[in-house]
Amino acid sequence: MIKVRRLGHATISTPDMDGQIDYYGNVLGLRVAERSNDRAFLVSKQGFEAIELVRGEKGHLKRLSFQIAPGTDLNDVVKELQKLGIKSEKRSGISPGVAEAVTLIDPKGTPVDLYAEYKFHEAAQPAYFNILKLGHVAYRVLDVQEIVKFYTEVLGFRVSDWRGDFFVFMRCNTDHHSLNFIIDEKPQLHHIAFEVLDWSEINKAGDWLARNKIHLVWGPGRHIIGHNVATYHRNSDLVRVEIFTEMDQMKDEALGYFDPRPWHQEFPLYPKMHGPETLRNYWGYGSERVIQGYQTNELPQYEAIRG
Ligand SMILES: [Fe+2]
Repeated sequence: MIKVRRLGHATISTPDMDGQIDYYGNVLGLRVAERSNDRAFLVSKQGFEAIELVRGEKGHLKRLSFQIAPGTDLNDVVKELQKLGIKSEKRSGISPGVAEAVTLIDPKGTPVDLYAEYKFHEAAQPAYFNILKLGHVAYRVLDVQEIVKFYTEVLGFRVSDWRGDFFVFMRCNTDHHSLNFIIDEKPQLHHIAFEVLDWSEINKAGDWLARNKIHLVWGPGRHIIGHNVATYHRNSDLVRVEIFTEMDQMKDEALGYFDPRPWHQEFPLYPKMHGPETLRNYWGYGSERVIQGYQTNELPQYEAIRG
């Protein structure tokens, strides 16, 4: 089994390169590290690659990348995958920070680049608010069990939580989730999420988005699953983008519980299957107080995030 250590960058297509570069660069405060006519890389101010834009349809996830342990021989990765019956190939020139990777295709058809060596980009001046990294990518799939089996057995992910048997949250390091998958008839990107340091950054992000005429469609609120404080908006390509902080941390896999936090409902808090009707939020829209008198799916904000 390969052991993924962190989510790298996501490759997303757009028919509007200039508009999306403006959004990720000037609104979200990422830095354009490299740009050609039909490809651009955007990195955090601390040097992590976050988004690759390529020319194409609006908001399709074209590739995903993950870092494995530095020092790993990529030829061994190819052999290991072969043993598991997975075809892969070595590729070079993945991104400005990634010279070489092993590429395989996940069960939903997304090319996945695994790399061992990563060259940090130079740090840049902090922005109005600061994205630390691409935190997670959520995707709608036809067969959630198949994709859980692949990401656990081939790439070393662990299941953090389930909502019913249709929505799964998976981790590859201390973060509660770097990937989540929800069953849907139409496989497609659900949302991408960027991590910020703390609440004050969430506050500044909301102010800055509004200054740029982008309004939140959901949040702020604290989720129950993962407990991240999250806000959601859509960019001009209608990609749903979450900005979050305070996600649950599994600091020691051997202990098996998430690091206790004052807002948890259980102590200790272990990974589990939540009931299908578990509320989206502990507080904020989608929490118990707000949905009194409503069906959850009647809430305008809920529709905005779901639709
Ligand atoms: Fe999310």
